[in-house]
Amino acid sequence: MAYTLSNIVMKNYLVASSSPLTESVERLRCCYEAGFSSAILKSSAEYVRTGTGYGRKVVYVKDGYYADASFEREILTLEEGIELYKKALNHCSSDMLLIPSVSASSLEPEKWLNSCRQFELCGASLIQLDFFYLGTLKHDERFYEKLKILLMCLVQSLDCAVMPKLNLNFDPDKACNILKESGIKTVSLLDSMREIPDPNLGLHENTTSYFGGRQLPYTLKYLKVAKQYGLEVCAGGGVTSKNDVGVLLAAGADMVQVASYILCRDFRAVEELLDNEFCSNIPSEITKHNPWCDYENGEQCEKCGACAPHEIK
Ligand SMILES: Cc1cc2nc3c(=O)[nH]c(=O)nc-3n(C[C@H](O)[C@H](O)[C@H](O)COP(=O)(O)O)c2cc1C
Repeated sequence: MAYTLSNIVMKNYLVASSSPLTESVERLRCCYEAGFSSAILKSSAEYVRTGTGYGRKVVYVKDGYYADASFEREILTLEEGIELYKKALNHCSSDMLLIPSVSASSLEPEKWLNSCRQFELCGASLIQLDFFYLGTLKHDERFYEKLKILLMCLVQSLDCAVMPKLNLNFDPDKACNILKESGIKTVSLLDSMREIPDPNLGLHENTTSYFGGRQLPYTLKYLKVAKQYGLEVCAGGGVTSKNDVGVLLAAGADMVQVASYILCRDFRAVEELLDNEFCSNIPSEITKHNPWCDYENGEQCEKCGACAPHEIK
């Protein structure tokens, strides 16, 4: 069976989701060595970092974890994203597709188009559109109309393919219908769930997401709708076992993306999610790398949120 995304043939069905796994060249090399067939780069956006953001905080709970971070911490600047992409192309692109991810906080086409064009100029054949920060706009009664204008503009103006990433702010039927009508072929889903956790955990209300198995039923729901609209789906969100990967593939996922399964272990766990035929017999040393950051020798960084020893709350 051939696995493809936007007509690009992949060596297997497993994609590294845009996340700390794909935030540095070192960690992208680990994705490559671990056996991922493609990696969606950490999202970047056209903005100027002012230094007013705050670092990431991760709190583990019984059925997953919460991660809280400001936009400035979580989203690379466009310059950082381009540099990451160019360097990664030199180090780990031979049989792992690198998929840049762009973000913006408005539906105005110019910003999206400029960011996509820059990655396209560097050679990108497929770009993820990270719509996570559009959540605050969902009350705009023209939201879906504007979304359609944006997508049609990108489809018409770019040579490369674009893959919007949905989240729970989108009505699955409306969103998939608009994707189809705009000429989009591929959809990425499903982003994390924005949740207001227990106030005692000391997390911000508007920037905290839940990650864990509770998400999988939603992923399956959006996957089903996307397939009804004939979209190609890079599906993930809530995968906690190899069985979950099989469930997504059986439900029609064209590729399966994961972040937390690896973040909660390390890159060696990629092989646990792959069928034997796709596993290498020679484990590479670098797959023992910390999946959250590049600090070494037990040093604790201040920014990734997961370095400090953690208890389950
Ligand atoms: C700390 C962290 C940062 C993330 N940053 C991004 C991002 O920049 N862009 C994006 O599209 N998704 C981002 N994600 C979401 C993941 O791509 C993925 O959709 C989510 O983790 C659900 O999949 P999982 O259950 O396999 O973790 C991030 C996830 C985590 C844990």
